[in-house]
Amino acid sequence: MQMGLDELFHRVQHCTMCRLHERRTQVVLGEGNPHSPLMFVGEGPGADEDIQGRPFVGKAGQLLNKMLAAAEIPREQIYITNIVKCRPPGNRTPTEDEMNTCIAILRRQFLVIRPKIIVTLGSAPTRALIDPQARITRVRGQWVEKKGVRFMPTFHPAYLLRNPEAKREAWADFQQIRDAYKEVLAGMNS
Ligand code: URA
Repeated sequence: MQMGLDELFHRVQHCTMCRLHERRTQVVLGEGNPHSPLMFVGEGPGADEDIQGRPFVGKAGQLLNKMLAAAEIPREQIYITNIVKCRPPGNRTPTEDEMNTCIAILRRQFLVIRPKIIVTLGSAPTRALIDPQARITRVRGQWVEKKGVRFMPTFHPAYLLRNPEAKREAWADFQQIRDAYKEVLAGMNS
Protein backbone atom coordinates (compact mmCIF):
# COMPACT_ATOMS: atom_id res chain seq x y z
CA MET A 1 0.00 0.00 0.00
CA GLN A 2 1.19 3.49 -0.79
CA MET A 3 2.25 5.61 2.15
CA GLY A 4 0.28 8.75 2.97
CA LEU A 5 1.65 12.17 3.81
CA ASP A 6 1.59 11.55 7.58
CA GLU A 7 3.71 8.46 7.17
CA LEU A 8 6.01 10.30 4.80
CA PHE A 9 6.49 13.03 7.41
CA HIS A 10 7.17 10.40 10.03
CA ARG A 11 9.88 8.94 7.81
CA VAL A 12 11.59 12.19 6.88
CA GLN A 13 11.28 14.26 10.04
CA HIS A 14 14.75 13.20 11.19
CA CYS A 15 16.27 13.11 7.69
CA THR A 16 20.05 13.57 7.51
CA MET A 17 20.46 12.97 3.77
CA CYS A 18 22.01 16.38 3.13
CA ARG A 19 23.84 19.08 5.04
CA LEU A 20 20.73 21.18 5.49
CA HIS A 21 19.73 19.03 8.45
CA GLU A 22 22.63 20.44 10.47
CA ARG A 23 21.11 23.85 11.01
CA ARG A 24 17.38 23.33 10.56
CA THR A 25 14.89 23.58 13.42
CA GLN A 26 12.47 21.22 11.73
CA VAL A 27 11.58 19.62 8.43
CA VAL A 28 8.87 21.58 6.58
CA LEU A 29 7.13 18.93 4.51
CA GLY A 30 4.26 21.03 3.17
CA GLU A 31 0.62 21.64 3.98
CA GLY A 32 -2.83 21.74 2.52
CA ASN A 33 -5.30 19.44 0.87
CA PRO A 34 -3.66 16.07 0.18
CA HIS A 35 -6.13 15.48 -2.66
CA SER A 36 -5.71 18.84 -4.35
CA PRO A 37 -5.32 18.91 -8.13
CA LEU A 38 -3.30 22.12 -7.66
CA MET A 39 0.11 22.22 -6.02
CA PHE A 40 2.53 25.12 -5.48
CA VAL A 41 6.25 24.41 -5.16
CA GLY A 42 8.60 27.03 -3.73
CA GLU A 43 12.33 26.98 -3.13
CA GLY A 44 12.86 26.14 0.51
CA PRO A 45 11.74 27.17 3.99
CA GLY A 46 12.90 30.53 5.34
CA ALA A 47 13.39 31.54 8.97
CA ASP A 48 9.67 31.78 9.83
CA GLU A 49 8.88 28.49 8.11
CA ASP A 50 11.77 26.78 9.89
CA ILE A 51 10.37 27.88 13.26
CA GLN A 52 6.70 27.21 12.54
CA GLY A 53 7.13 24.03 10.48
CA ARG A 54 4.80 25.38 7.79
CA PRO A 55 5.57 26.58 4.24
CA PHE A 56 5.10 30.18 3.16
CA VAL A 57 4.17 31.78 6.47
CA GLY A 58 6.64 34.71 6.37
CA LYS A 59 6.54 37.90 4.26
CA ALA A 60 6.68 36.00 0.94
CA GLY A 61 3.90 33.74 2.22
CA GLN A 62 1.74 36.73 3.08
CA LEU A 63 2.08 38.00 -0.49
CA LEU A 64 1.31 34.51 -1.82
CA ASN A 65 -1.82 34.49 0.37
CA LYS A 66 -2.93 37.84 -1.09
CA MET A 67 -2.44 36.62 -4.65
CA LEU A 68 -4.31 33.37 -3.95
CA ALA A 69 -7.16 35.33 -2.37
CA ALA A 70 -7.31 37.72 -5.34
CA ALA A 71 -7.49 34.70 -7.66
CA GLU A 72 -10.23 33.22 -5.45
CA ILE A 73 -8.15 30.14 -4.73
CA PRO A 74 -8.63 29.21 -1.04
CA ARG A 75 -5.18 28.37 0.37
CA GLU A 76 -6.56 25.46 2.40
CA GLN A 77 -7.92 23.85 -0.78
CA ILE A 78 -4.49 23.49 -2.40
CA TYR A 79 -1.19 21.90 -1.40
CA ILE A 80 1.93 24.02 -0.86
CA THR A 81 5.46 22.75 -0.49
CA ASN A 82 9.07 23.42 -1.48
CA ILE A 83 11.85 21.76 -3.45
CA VAL A 84 13.92 21.37 -0.28
CA LYS A 85 12.27 20.73 3.05
CA CYS A 86 14.92 22.21 5.34
CA ARG A 87 15.95 25.82 5.59
CA PRO A 88 19.11 26.72 3.67
CA PRO A 89 21.26 28.78 6.08
CA GLY A 90 20.85 32.52 5.53
CA ASN A 91 18.11 31.72 3.00
CA ARG A 92 20.66 30.98 0.29
CA THR A 93 19.50 29.14 -2.82
CA PRO A 94 19.68 25.38 -2.23
CA THR A 95 22.57 23.71 -4.07
CA GLU A 96 21.93 21.28 -6.92
CA ASP A 97 23.07 18.44 -4.68
CA GLU A 98 20.61 19.42 -1.95
CA MET A 99 17.78 19.70 -4.46
CA ASN A 100 18.67 16.41 -6.16
CA THR A 101 18.63 14.66 -2.80
CA CYS A 102 15.43 16.23 -1.49
CA ILE A 103 13.47 15.89 -4.72
CA ALA A 104 12.88 12.23 -3.79
CA ILE A 105 10.53 13.49 -1.05
CA LEU A 106 8.73 15.79 -3.48
CA ARG A 107 8.28 12.89 -5.91
CA ARG A 108 6.68 10.89 -3.10
CA GLN A 109 4.34 13.81 -2.48
CA PHE A 110 3.43 13.87 -6.19
CA LEU A 111 2.61 10.14 -6.02
CA VAL A 112 0.29 10.66 -3.05
CA ILE A 113 -1.37 13.92 -4.12
CA ARG A 114 -1.35 13.34 -7.89
CA PRO A 115 -1.75 17.01 -8.83
CA LYS A 116 -2.94 17.99 -12.29
CA ILE A 117 -1.44 21.48 -12.10
CA ILE A 118 1.93 22.34 -10.55
CA VAL A 119 2.96 25.97 -10.09
CA THR A 120 6.71 26.49 -9.73
CA LEU A 121 7.55 29.63 -7.78
CA GLY A 122 10.82 31.10 -9.02
CA SER A 123 13.91 29.78 -10.65
CA ALA A 124 14.94 26.85 -8.42
CA PRO A 125 11.74 24.75 -8.65
CA THR A 126 11.31 25.74 -12.32
CA ARG A 127 14.77 24.40 -13.14
CA ALA A 128 14.38 21.32 -10.96
CA LEU A 129 10.96 20.34 -12.33
CA ILE A 130 10.64 21.80 -15.82
CA ASP A 131 13.96 22.61 -17.49
CA PRO A 132 17.45 22.84 -15.93
CA GLN A 133 18.30 25.70 -18.34
CA ALA A 134 15.09 27.67 -17.82
CA ARG A 135 15.24 31.38 -17.11
CA ILE A 136 12.23 32.39 -15.12
CA THR A 137 11.90 35.78 -16.83
CA ARG A 138 11.61 33.97 -20.20
CA VAL A 139 9.47 30.96 -19.30
CA ARG A 140 7.04 32.40 -16.77
CA GLY A 141 3.42 32.44 -17.78
CA GLN A 142 3.80 29.57 -20.27
CA TRP A 143 2.26 26.19 -19.62
CA VAL A 144 4.46 23.13 -19.99
CA GLU A 145 2.86 19.69 -20.06
CA LYS A 146 4.72 16.63 -18.82
CA LYS A 147 3.17 13.20 -18.37
CA GLY A 148 -0.33 14.63 -18.23
CA VAL A 149 0.55 17.27 -15.61
CA ARG A 150 0.46 20.98 -16.49
CA PHE A 151 3.27 23.08 -15.06
CA MET A 152 3.09 26.86 -14.73
CA PRO A 153 6.29 28.68 -13.84
CA THR A 154 5.88 32.10 -12.26
CA PHE A 155 7.86 34.53 -10.16
CA HIS A 156 8.66 33.74 -6.55
CA PRO A 157 6.74 36.06 -4.19
CA ALA A 158 10.04 37.08 -2.53
CA TYR A 159 11.18 38.33 -5.96
CA LEU A 160 7.92 40.27 -6.28
CA LEU A 161 8.56 41.92 -2.91
CA ARG A 162 11.91 43.15 -4.24
CA ASN A 163 10.57 43.93 -7.74
CA PRO A 164 6.97 45.11 -7.35
CA GLU A 165 6.84 46.11 -11.03
CA ALA A 166 6.80 42.38 -11.87
CA LYS A 167 3.52 41.90 -9.99
CA ARG A 168 1.49 42.67 -13.12
CA GLU A 169 3.03 39.73 -14.97
CA ALA A 170 2.64 37.49 -11.93
CA TRP A 171 -1.02 38.44 -11.70
CA ALA A 172 -1.51 37.47 -15.35
CA ASP A 173 0.03 34.07 -14.47
CA PHE A 174 -2.28 33.69 -11.47
CA GLN A 175 -5.29 34.39 -13.67
CA GLN A 176 -4.20 31.54 -15.94
CA ILE A 177 -3.71 29.31 -12.89
CA ARG A 178 -7.17 30.23 -11.58
CA ASP A 179 -8.82 29.44 -14.92
CA ALA A 180 -7.02 26.10 -15.29
CA TYR A 181 -7.83 25.18 -11.68
CA LYS A 182 -11.52 25.99 -12.15
CA GLU A 183 -11.56 23.91 -15.31
CA VAL A 184 -10.02 20.92 -13.50
CA LEU A 185 -12.46 21.28 -10.58
CA ALA A 186 -15.40 21.46 -12.99
CA GLY A 187 -14.16 18.27 -14.69
CA MET A 188 -13.86 16.50 -11.33
CA ASN A 189 -17.40 17.46 -10.33
CA SER A 190 -19.11 16.56 -13.60
N1 URA B 1 10.17 30.88 0.37
C1 URA B 1 10.03 29.64 -0.15
O1 URA B 1 10.50 29.35 -1.25
N2 URA B 1 9.34 28.76 0.55
C2 URA B 1 8.80 29.01 1.72
O2 URA B 1 8.18 28.12 2.31
C3 URA B 1 8.95 30.31 2.24
C4 URA B 1 9.65 31.22 1.55
